[in-house]
Amino acid sequence: MAGTGDGISEQLEAIRTEALTAIAEAAGPEALEAARVRFLGRKSPLMNFLSRIGELDRERRATAGQMGNALRRELETALSERSRQLENDRLATIADRERIDVTFPGPSPEIGFPHPLVETERALVRILGEIGYQVEEGPEVETDWFNFEALNLPREHASRDAQDSFYFSDELLLRTHTSPVQIRGMLRIGQPPIRIICPGRTYRRDAMDATHLACFMQLEGLAVDTDLTVGDLKGTLTYMVRGLYGPDRQIRIRPHHFPFTEPSYEFDTSCGVCQGKGCRSCGGEGWLEIGGCGMVHPQVLRNGGIDPRRYRGFAWGFGLERMTMLRHDVDDLRRLYEDDLRFLEQLA
Ligand code: DAH
Repeated sequence: MAGTGDGISEQLEAIRTEALTAIAEAAGPEALEAARVRFLGRKSPLMNFLSRIGELDRERRATAGQMGNALRRELETALSERSRQLENDRLATIADRERIDVTFPGPSPEIGFPHPLVETERALVRILGEIGYQVEEGPEVETDWFNFEALNLPREHASRDAQDSFYFSDELLLRTHTSPVQIRGMLRIGQPPIRIICPGRTYRRDAMDATHLACFMQLEGLAVDTDLTVGDLKGTLTYMVRGLYGPDRQIRIRPHHFPFTEPSYEFDTSCGVCQGKGCRSCGGEGWLEIGGCGMVHPQVLRNGGIDPRRYRGFAWGFGLERMTMLRHDVDDLRRLYEDDLRFLEQLA
């Protein structure tokens, strides 16, 4: 049709120029869509042109159709290319504005730490392990025999009153101390030398206050061998306390009574604040009470299957909470069980 002089090619060329400019200048998807409607929509000049080709005479019809359709394809291509370009620009802008630095360290995960009670327990297991003690375990649900009877605490004995417990039946209860593991350990191992410790949970029907809980922890120690003396007991306690609290600590034992030891003592450590001179921290005493100890009663050895004519033993037991409180200068037992991280983190 070019050069046919009927103006068709000029007409199409005008549409083309205008359309390509509008498409190139469309600054966003809405403007591009408007250009599509304007130049390729049903009422657009090009569509109008194509729909009226039939009116042309036969020989011009074919050429006009080819030219019109070629322009339509060209415009469609220009539209989709512009659309892709706009999308690329949009993504590039986002990438630029919201750039993420993958080498930047992320928020670090919170790292946990052992509970102070566990920390004390582990430290004691390690310290006593250095002098040959191995961990022996026993059940928390214990029989009356192991918890009391075998330790010289017969039914109706007055000193049972201090250890009121939670009973499942006449025979079964939650252990009130770790001392039954002395018997279990002797029976299991059988042949001295025996050196065992038992850290574990214990239960008493006590009302809760700053120094009492119904569920708490103890650590029990037992040595059975030939020729053991109170001196060995004291040396062991000294090693244990110095390992935990430092080399300046002293140990003091005071006569006491426990049915399962003879002689029996309570043992104290010198106050770490005043080195034994007496201060507010130790109530002016210079000493802090830790637990009970003594030479294992012959009948208790017998109940553990050991011949008291050949062997002697010493034993000790104390509360892990109190040991932990003295370690960190905590004055209320309940804090150790409230699991308030603000508190626990300070002891970590
Ligand atoms: N079992 C005692 C209590 O819970 C503590 C104790 C005292 C343990 C003397 C011992 C010991 O091994 O010899 O009060």
